[in-house]
Amino acid sequence: MAQMRLDKLLSNRTPHSRSEIKLVLKNGAVKVDGRIVTDGSCKVDPDAQEITCQGKKLTGALHTYFIVNKPEGYICATEDREHRTVLDLLPKELRVKGLFPAGRLDIDSTGLVLLTDDGDLAHRMLAPKSHVPKYYLVRLARPCGKEYAEKLAAGVVLGDGTQCLPAELKIVDPKKKAVLICLHEGKYHQVKRLFAALGNHVEHLHRVAVGGLILPDKLALGGYMEIVHKDVETMLKPSCMDGVCERIVTDFSSYWINDRQ
Ligand code: URA
Repeated sequence: MAQMRLDKLLSNRTPHSRSEIKLVLKNGAVKVDGRIVTDGSCKVDPDAQEITCQGKKLTGALHTYFIVNKPEGYICATEDREHRTVLDLLPKELRVKGLFPAGRLDIDSTGLVLLTDDGDLAHRMLAPKSHVPKYYLVRLARPCGKEYAEKLAAGVVLGDGTQCLPAELKIVDPKKKAVLICLHEGKYHQVKRLFAALGNHVEHLHRVAVGGLILPDKLALGGYMEIVHKDVETMLKPSCMDGVCERIVTDFSSYWINDRQ
């Protein structure tokens, strides 16, 4: 990475405001290769030098990426007067400037959400023409009908006349109330509206994967994990229903197919 001003790096890589940055510099809380630096205009190279602020190492990575396992009750926004947001799942010191949820889950939905300050990546992931597959484990109110898979594969028309792209479906429990659905687009409340159009009702929805990135089973509900750009690129890679199904069903069956029925 090219050299940049120390105060700019601190502004990008810490949650501090400009005035706070001046203060931490003045207080001798910033070190470059072990030496205290108080001048914010000093040029540094975060790839080649070790830079710490209040004892915490600042990485050279240009952007920050976290995945969270969103619990119910949180909304996918950066701020809200009434509800907690997915950013509240991160400790305050990790909430770097510009962090936002790339994509949405409803307040009562759970599962994988990417938090990032990388607008280009989010755009590539969310642009309608990119068709990044998103996988949802869904608990239905009534058993899944035999005709659902075929109708979804043909492209369901929602209650308001909206035509959906083909979606894939796999039944994942013997009682046929838990299914895995893969969408290649992201319309408002789409999973709920798809099953409503099929005459059923979604009781719970959990996003388990986006593209090739599967929510790690060790990431508990409400947990977060920092990931690197390479992992995020996995989100843009193609994935297939059988592969995702094979990897998630064992992990998640104990979570809510059995426990929450
Ligand atoms: N579809 C929905 O209906 N809700 C979500 O949270 C995500 C997809």
